[in-house]
Amino acid sequence: MAWATLDPAGPAARQILDLYWAMVVLGGVGFVVFLALLVAALRRRGRPDRDAPDDGTGRGRFRALLVGAGVIQPLLLITVTFALTLGAMRALPVPGQADDDAAVLVEVVGHQWWYEIRYPDLGVVTANELHLPVDRPVRLQLRSADVIHSFWVPRLAGKTDMFPDFVNEHQLVAEEVGTYLGHCAEFCGLQHTLMRIRAVVQPAEEFDEWVTARREPAAAPEGEIARRGQELFVAANCADCHTIAGTPADGRDGPDLTHLASRETLAAGTLSNATADLRAWVADPHSAKPGAHMPAADLDGEDLDALIAYLEGLE
Ligand code: CUA
Repeated sequence: MAWATLDPAGPAARQILDLYWAMVVLGGVGFVVFLALLVAALRRRGRPDRDAPDDGTGRGRFRALLVGAGVIQPLLLITVTFALTLGAMRALPVPGQADDDAAVLVEVVGHQWWYEIRYPDLGVVTANELHLPVDRPVRLQLRSADVIHSFWVPRLAGKTDMFPDFVNEHQLVAEEVGTYLGHCAEFCGLQHTLMRIRAVVQPAEEFDEWVTARREPAAAPEGEIARRGQELFVAANCADCHTIAGTPADGRDGPDLTHLASRETLAAGTLSNATADLRAWVADPHSAKPGAHMPAADLDGEDLDALIAYLEGLE
């Protein structure tokens, strides 16, 4: 993650990296000139003739230096940086340009502290794990359900803010199959640091299979224990906030759990989706994520086992 911005996997991220290197070089030139002047001044300070009367040439040299290094040089560097930035902004893919029809439309909604992900044209809803087909433009519509968040998957594209009252459109193409980690990049409260997103870039066929499987309603519980778990889920307060398609649970405040078991992580990338983590999360969300809006499930022992068995069956 730390070096992700230096390893782009799509044109938008590459464009930003090119600009970054140009700024590093230009900033480096400015810095070296400054250091050279500083060293020259320090060396001059020690010279015995520095208080000798000025015959006029010193004043002229001083003025040339002041204008050259103090005015022309920064003006030149800033102008070149500005022109390069405009060029990069023009080159970044903007929605409304070509390819919009071929693009996969995805709505990503920031919540405290997780990402809701909807594919309106495909009839798929999920959370925190953004599946994308490789080499196909993706049109993201970004907004927030509460405070300002940000969408940032460094290897794919730059940061884009997610506002509660404004949809920010964003287009990207992922050119390599793989899983890319991303992170909310706008301070949004207590669990800002645990608001993560994974972009799972798949070959077209695999992505289509993923979509087909995710469009199905939830798997019916298998066995007595899982059936009991489903009853508990609906009877307890879980269903007030979570949707499980095909069941009476249709809450919208928390992540859609229809295919929870197919996801790699829980709690926006905070925990793995292994049984022990799932159980610990449901029983006590606040030890993993203090401040999370999910209350602890008021269940223990066999009831909790049943609930977990049900959730684990939601492939
Ligand atoms: Cu959401 Cu920071």
